[in-house]
Amino acid sequence: MPYLAWSDDLDTGIPELDAQHRVMLEHVNRLHEAAAADDSKELVAAMDALIECLQEHFEFEEKVLEMIQFAGLEDHSETHGSILDRLRDYRTRLQTAPAPEAQEIVDALGPWVVDHIRHDDLDFGPTVREWLRDASPPGDPFRELVGDR
Ligand SMILES: [Fe+2]
Ligand SMILES: [Fe+2]
Repeated sequence: MPYLAWSDDLDTGIPELDAQHRVMLEHVNRLHEAAAADDSKELVAAMDALIECLQEHFEFEEKVLEMIQFAGLEDHSETHGSILDRLRDYRTRLQTAPAPEAQEIVDALGPWVVDHIRHDDLDFGPTVREWLRDASPPGDPFRELVGDR
């Protein structure tokens, strides 16, 4: 049983975003396993992978929000920026943290990655779906981009 499991309440209804969110959870699970095994090399490698995954995901998400001229884009981008800042800070701490502290960091991090999906990302789900319904004809590149075919 993975540490973080996907649940339906995390679904934005936008296939490409949901697929990326699932990968994010897998990265957090990898991190959790490394902390449990007290494997500091793997811990930093897993953290790097999570940060890279999030960077790419946030860029993608912001591009989608820009395309639909989402009103909350600026706030959402700021939240993404502060998540990355926090993760980079955690990464630095993980390099030297003793096992219990590393475990504490990883335990704190999982829930707020999930919370960002659950509380912030779900805010724009309906707007993107409306956009797909009303403004994006079949075959439109935006549909292609978000995986809605
Ligand atoms: Fe997201
Ligand atoms: Fe987001």
